[in-house]
Amino acid sequence: MIRVLVPRERQSGETRVAATPETVKRLRGRGCAVWLERQAGLRSGYADEAYAEAGAELFHGEGPEAAERWAEADVVLAVQTPAGAEAGSGGLEALRPEALLLGLLNPHGDDSLIERLERQRLSAVALELLPRISRAQAMDVLSSQANIAGYKAVLLAAAALDRFFPMLMTAAGTVQPARVVVLGAGVAGLQAVATARRLGALVKVSDVRPAAREQVESLGARFIEPPRLEESPGEVGGYAREAGAVFLEAQRQLLAPHLAEADVVITTAQVPGRPAPLLITREMLGLLRPGAVVVDLAVGQGGNCAGSRSDATVDVDGVTVIGAGNLPASLPQHASALYARNLAALLEALIQEGELRLDPEDPLLNPCLLSHAGVCRRDDLRPARTGQEVAA
Ligand code: NAI
Repeated sequence: MIRVLVPRERQSGETRVAATPETVKRLRGRGCAVWLERQAGLRSGYADEAYAEAGAELFHGEGPEAAERWAEADVVLAVQTPAGAEAGSGGLEALRPEALLLGLLNPHGDDSLIERLERQRLSAVALELLPRISRAQAMDVLSSQANIAGYKAVLLAAAALDRFFPMLMTAAGTVQPARVVVLGAGVAGLQAVATARRLGALVKVSDVRPAAREQVESLGARFIEPPRLEESPGEVGGYAREAGAVFLEAQRQLLAPHLAEADVVITTAQVPGRPAPLLITREMLGLLRPGAVVVDLAVGQGGNCAGSRSDATVDVDGVTVIGAGNLPASLPQHASALYARNLAALLEALIQEGELRLDPEDPLLNPCLLSHAGVCRRDDLRPARTGQEVAA
């Protein structure tokens, strides 16, 4: 029987959980035992009793019981990388060699990750690196969580804005709809467009991938053409490439008049593994009217907007700049429900005849299996200790 452990997330601001009663039941049906730390689902609205009813075994997170469970687990389902073992308790360092960790492990940002996995001789899958092949669609946590971030970004903007979103005809006269600009039309950006449209706003969108135009227009928004330059970033595997300095400068000039008219700007532009492009400089913020709101979803990657800070709201000459760090954690019930289904689908794909089988050559696992029984498979993600550039 495969022993699956689900810890309570301990990172500051993290409210999600990697399994719900629904997925516990599903994994039990696949012959897994599910060990869930007490109160792991509390902050996402899932009570211990519901997990127990679904067939989970609950354990105390501290003390010898925790240490024992961690030492015997075959698989850990986590949202973020679990902390190290505290004296006599559970944690990453309490796992046995060859145990498998599945989670959002922050492979581009956590310098100690590979070393810790090697030291413990663990196997680990970083969900950020799952390939976007059709077989992996049900496992695509980046999409399920970005979708939530895009939706919530618009709600935050609407709540902070000094006017209505929709056009309203009232006895006191007509008010015009809010003007929203969305930068980046990936999963989060498209959900932001759809949500702003549902609230009645007029929406314009910028992206560097030509394919985005059709998706943007199908949602009833206007596409802002990217600069026509020879050195356009283009795309690889559906993702944008990093834009060069000349292109970015041209893009900022193109965006300026649209920003000058905007009430709200939602920024979501990212390039995997690279710093986010700076699309709104400090000077350009001065183009926005006082009372306008910017929500920067790329703040974790350095931000699309000058001055944005993670999980902070700053006022820049009357413009509200919201640095939205972990928005999925602000909608934890649905974020966990979708995340847990993604993880259950992935784990099911790794189970064959009741056994956990990790085939590193499987196209599903090849890019995202960071280490296999402690052997690092992604040397390019090691911190650049020798001065070599981390591969793009
Ligand atoms: P992301 O989070 O990596 O980036 C967000 C958006 O920012 C992207 O649309 C990107 O083109 C854009 N961007 C980058 N630099 C920019 C710049 N300088 N100015 C304006 N926009 C810029 O993207 P996400 O949401 O992960 O989607 C990336 C691609 O993956 C899309 O093509 C999407 O349709 C595709 N996708 C495929 C899936 C599948 O095949 N299963 C599932 C989900 C997404």
